[in-house]
Amino acid sequence: MPVNTTSVILSDEQKILFKYIKKENLNSISVYESIGGYSSLKKAFAMKPDQIIDEVKKSGLRGRGGAGFPTGNKWGFVPYHLGKPIYLLCNADESEPGTFKDRVILEKNPHSLIEGIIVSSFATRCHKSYIYIRGEYTYAAKVIEKAIEEAYAKGYLGKNILGSGHDLELVLHRGAGAYICGEETGLISSLEGKKGYPKLKPPFPAVSGFLECPTVVNNVETLCAVPWIIEKGGEAYTEYGRGQSKGTKLFSISGWVNKPGTYEVEMGVSLKDFINDLAGGMRDGAKLKAVIPGGSSTPPLTAKEVETANLDYESMATFETFLGSGAIIVVPEHHCLMKLLEHLSEFYWDESCGQCTPCREGTGWLYKMVKKISYGQGTQADIDSLNKTAKSMMGTTICALSDAAAMPVLGFIKKFPEEFISHVDYKGCPLKQCGGSSH
Ligand SMILES: Cc1cc2nc3c(=O)[nH]c(=O)nc-3n(C[C@H](O)[C@H](O)[C@H](O)COP(=O)(O)O)c2cc1C
Ligand code: SF4
Repeated sequence: MPVNTTSVILSDEQKILFKYIKKENLNSISVYESIGGYSSLKKAFAMKPDQIIDEVKKSGLRGRGGAGFPTGNKWGFVPYHLGKPIYLLCNADESEPGTFKDRVILEKNPHSLIEGIIVSSFATRCHKSYIYIRGEYTYAAKVIEKAIEEAYAKGYLGKNILGSGHDLELVLHRGAGAYICGEETGLISSLEGKKGYPKLKPPFPAVSGFLECPTVVNNVETLCAVPWIIEKGGEAYTEYGRGQSKGTKLFSISGWVNKPGTYEVEMGVSLKDFINDLAGGMRDGAKLKAVIPGGSSTPPLTAKEVETANLDYESMATFETFLGSGAIIVVPEHHCLMKLLEHLSEFYWDESCGQCTPCREGTGWLYKMVKKISYGQGTQADIDSLNKTAKSMMGTTICALSDAAAMPVLGFIKKFPEEFISHVDYKGCPLKQCGGSSH
């Protein structure tokens, strides 16, 4: 039974991740401790690592980085008996266009992440952990660096944390502005000092990852949910959300809304209510055309689908899309979708690492064809060919960037064919927004 059945808005008291987010100076350790910060450590250290993993499994927590893989199961795959060092890597690369939820945690509540990393490292028997942060997040990196120093000074990091016998070294590593380093194996390559090339799986990082040792990679938001789960119990977490989508989730909403920003809601709430009640509704009373629900790689929803879509994994699947990283992009009727798709396709072309032929060649080709159509120089045959090429890029490469580039193209063609056809028929952009429009 969901915690909040009457409204999409959670009270501060009901929130798990953002309960104190508006508190002044929350990023300093004294303020964080004053609101009960780091208190989950005592309980965690009194438990056995496997008990923590069981509790996380019970909670139903799924990875918030995009793929939604059950966190407790991932931790359960690590071969703890090998005697090799185990690494916990926090993925703070946050580069999927539209996504800016982790940034809020990193800048405003860094100690909640450090606390999550300490508890998770204890569960996964890890003694060295890295936060891999997006290169462009310079302010967040400074905040995290200071928070790590404070945590060391207070004995929350280092040797024999709070007399528990658990040691943890935590290092901040800054990326250099490559989207592909957010993909977990690309992140590992980069952290190893190599080019950020993704690697074929298997072996999965849990078995052989950083420096060929067992490695757990988790998103910022995922790790931040762990202390609450340990303090209140996995069962309590399942009281939030529904079906296979448990707990709360952060959604960053941008585009044509009155109040863009990052909001914490219970999983399963109505997308339409989220847009209207939390994000303040459509700007200037504009009519809704489309919503990208989970970051730029997720296929769009039509305005009609938004009427009944809920923010959970199952609902998104019924509309042939994904919850992804929780980045909602709202597009009004007066914006051209071809223009939007042109930008997205260019992004994926630019960010492909080039190892796999379908991705290296396909992303460039998608961009070229989308641009040709948006410029009013395309034909129906080009639309068909675009569709066919995008399909051929799915599931054939080392990592999922190729799929991420193809999915919006396929989704836009399927759900908004009229946008493509109108550019062909009109020989330009009917809304006069695409570059090179002859009209
Ligand atoms: C191209 C690509 C980019 C990704 N970028 C990110 C990212 O910026 N942040 C993130 O947490 N996960 C990202 N992921 C997902 C990670 O590979 C991985 O699944 C995630 O960090 C696991 O953490 P979680 O289980 O806590 O979600 C990306 C995946 C792909 C294929
Ligand atoms: S799919 Fe693209 S980004 Fe991923 S490894 Fe292959 S070429 Fe690189």
